[in-house]
Amino acid sequence: MGKEELMKKLEEKIRNCQKCPLGQLRTNAVPGSGSYDAKVMFVGEAPGYWEDQKGLPFVGRAGKVLDELLAEIGLTREEVYITNIVKCRPPNNRDPTEEEIKACSPYLDMQIDIIRPKVIVPLGRHSMNYILRKFGFEPEPISKIHGKTFEAYTLFGKVIIMPTYHPAAALYKPPIREELRKDFMKLKELIDSSP
Ligand code: SF4
Ligand code: URA
Repeated sequence: MGKEELMKKLEEKIRNCQKCPLGQLRTNAVPGSGSYDAKVMFVGEAPGYWEDQKGLPFVGRAGKVLDELLAEIGLTREEVYITNIVKCRPPNNRDPTEEEIKACSPYLDMQIDIIRPKVIVPLGRHSMNYILRKFGFEPEPISKIHGKTFEAYTLFGKVIIMPTYHPAAALYKPPIREELRKDFMKLKELIDSSP
């Protein structure tokens, strides 16, 4: 089976999933969007109000920040893949629970295995914690390790992990916007130098 077929099947499975209580509360599950051949994969936390309404990731205010950051390094959404650790919206946008992350993260693991990205960018603390632990690294405060790179070895080859802040952080803490901009410049270098 090719990537396209595998991803379509997985998305269908996510849209019908009832593995955790969030399945009963959603309007739409949000599997992810973008290119299945993307070199870079962004991993946010969980859908918010607009994502739940539309079934697409990062389409609200945080999404607008993400679009701007991508544009600053000459990328479009169509060239990257964007998803979240948890695929259904937690009520009132609360943080996803450990149980929800445990139930949902196998979908993210499968998406990574199918897409085989060169670079994974966890957006925010929850995503960073999950991705770093998954690849055997010990998480540290995001203020300390944003923009740093971690090399992981997978069955499909080397993958570079570069955590950064969640784009929503730039909305309530404006100085974070500049940190994000710098991290995205680094990301551009990583993408340009990876085969
Ligand atoms: Fe299934 Fe994930 Fe939605 Fe829970 S959040 S119902 S595990 S897709
Ligand atoms: N915040 C996230 O973490 N993910 C989205 O898709 C939207 C907002």
